[in-house]
Amino acid sequence: MHAADILVNMSNVYKAFGSNQVLKGLSLELYRGENLVVLGKSGSGKSVLIKCLVRLINHDSGNIAVLNNDVESLSERALDVLRTRIGFLFQGSALYDSMTVEENMGFAMNRLRKQVTGVALTKLIDEALENVGLKQTGKLMPSELSGGMKKRVALARTIIMKPEIMLYDEPTTGLDPITSREISKLIVDLQSQYHMSSIIITHDIPCAKITANRLMALVNGVNYATGSYDELRTHQDILVKSFFE
Ligand SMILES: Nc1ncnc2c1ncn2[C@@H]1O[C@H](COP(=O)(O)OP(=O)(O)OP(=O)(O)O)[C@@H](O)[C@H]1O
Ligand SMILES: [Mg+2]
Repeated sequence: MHAADILVNMSNVYKAFGSNQVLKGLSLELYRGENLVVLGKSGSGKSVLIKCLVRLINHDSGNIAVLNNDVESLSERALDVLRTRIGFLFQGSALYDSMTVEENMGFAMNRLRKQVTGVALTKLIDEALENVGLKQTGKLMPSELSGGMKKRVALARTIIMKPEIMLYDEPTTGLDPITSREISKLIVDLQSQYHMSSIIITHDIPCAKITANRLMALVNGVNYATGSYDELRTHQDILVKSFFE
């Protein structure tokens, strides 16, 4: 595989909080165009892993390259530029309660790319909302939205930046099974529509099945097993198989 087609390359990454060693030599690659699902028990370090990718958390040792940037050695300015190329759907997907959907999206845009305003901004917002199945909701307040709709807005707010990489942290948590499936399908649609490569962290096996081109099991701080959905589901190792029970 050509180096330019490896968008994320983590190699032998360690991260501890005090005596709590969370990542213990983790390596993973994200290839261009793929959806990589990361499975792991609660507290196993999944959120830590993706926060290290955008240096919201500094790792202790090992190498992390994102879009051919060595994350550790980037200046703050270069890191900001890199972050504009990466979409991050946080666990919880917080919207600002006092702003309309439209304002929430414009706010995110303006923080990162100040030049888009007025009609051009409205057009981008409408297009992004339409692409997540939420046409004509721009004037609504977050309190008027269901959990699934809030996730969609959070997604729209992120994809409007046209990120090359999307990082999803538990995109279906707290949603009912039907809404979870809709969001999972939306993730697949957006992958092809926006030509994005994604890391999707989830406990939700139906979501993994729908979204994953490839999966990785994070166990004991390392990349314990990688493969397709069926390869991991029928894996000999009990720790890997247990995710699917
Ligand atoms: N900022 C921090 N300071 C100290 N410890 C932290 C910090 N962030 C995470 N941890 C610890 O690192 C470990 C991994 O946390 P992380 O949030 O990555 O788990 P997770 O796999 O995302 O779990 P969940 O599925 O519940 O979201 C936990 O033991 C957690 O307490
Ligand atoms: Mg987490």
